Amino acid sequence: MLPLRTSRHLLTTSDRNTSMQQDSDRDRDRVYSQPLASVDRFVFDRQVAQVFPDMIQRSVPGYAAVISMSSVLASQYVQPKSLCYDLGCSLGATARSIQSGIQAQDCRIIAVDNSAAMIEQAVALAPAGNHTTPIDYVCADIADIGIENASLVTLNFTLQFIPLQQRGLLLQRIRRGLRPGGILILSEKIRFEDPEEERQQIEMHHAFKRANGYNELEISQKRSALENVLIPETLEQHQARLREAGFRRADLWFQCFNFISLVAHA
Ligand SMILES: C[S@@+](CC[C@H](N)C(=O)[O-])C[C@H]1O[C@@H](n2cnc3c(N)ncnc32)[C@H](O)[C@@H]1O
Repeated sequence: MLPLRTSRHLLTTSDRNTSMQQDSDRDRDRVYSQPLASVDRFVFDRQVAQVFPDMIQRSVPGYAAVISMSSVLASQYVQPKSLCYDLGCSLGATARSIQSGIQAQDCRIIAVDNSAAMIEQAVALAPAGNHTTPIDYVCADIADIGIENASLVTLNFTLQFIPLQQRGLLLQRIRRGLRPGGILILSEKIRFEDPEEERQQIEMHHAFKRANGYNELEISQKRSALENVLIPETLEQHQARLREAGFRRADLWFQCFNFISLVAHA
C-alpha cells in the first residue's frame, strides 16, 4: 500500500481509514441517543451544527431532492442583476445549490441564519475561489433582513420554526421584495386535518427515521424537544397564507410523507 505524504506526518491507508472513520463518527447525529432526565427545547446550537448534514438527511424524507431541485428552479427563475435570498440557510446547502444552477449574470445570493454556529460553519464550508455568483453569509434574524430586487427566495424547512403570528408578515415582506416573475420556494413539515392521515404520515416518517438508524429513544426525545418549537401547519393553511400575502399561486411540486415543497409565484 502506498503511504500518503502530508506536510505534518506520513499516513498509511489504514491510518487514513481510521481518521475518516473518526470524522464520520464525530459528524454522526447522536444528540438524543442518551436518556435525558429532562429534554430541553430544540436549539440550533454548536452541537447541532456539527452533525447537521447527517441529522437533516436522516430526519427529513426527500431533503436531498428538495435541495438539488432548488438548483433546477434557480436555473429557470433567477433573473439577471437580481438577488436571491436563502432564509434559514443553516450550513448553506440550498445557497450552494442555487449558486450552481444560476445561469443569469450579475446576481448575488444572501444566505441568512440567526445561529452563529451555523453561519461560522457555512463560511468554513464555502469553497475557495471567486464564483460568478457570490454568496454573502449573514448572521441575523430573518425579521431584520431587508428583501429587495429578488427573483428567488427560499425558505427550506425554516418557516416552521418562526412563531405563527409572525409568518404572515414575513411572507408579505418576501412578496413585496420579489420582482414580477420571481418565486418563493417554501419547504415545510406539514400536518393533516384528517386524524387517520395524520397518524399514518407520522408513522411513515418515524419508519423512515428507524430505517436511517435512529432508535425509539432518539425519535421520542427529539420529538419532545421539537414540541412547540417546530409548529407544522396544513398544506391548505400555507397556500391560503401565501395567497393573502399577495402571491398569484402556490403550487405543490414535491411531497414525501409529511414533508412538502411549494413554488409560490409573485
Ligand atoms: C431546518 S434548518 C434549515 C435547513 C436549511 N434551509 C437547509 O436547506 O439545509 C432551520 C434553520 O433556520 C434557522 N432559523 C430559525 N429561525 C430563524 C430566524 N428567525 N432567523 C434566521 N434563521 C432562523 C435555524 O437556525 C436553522 O439553521
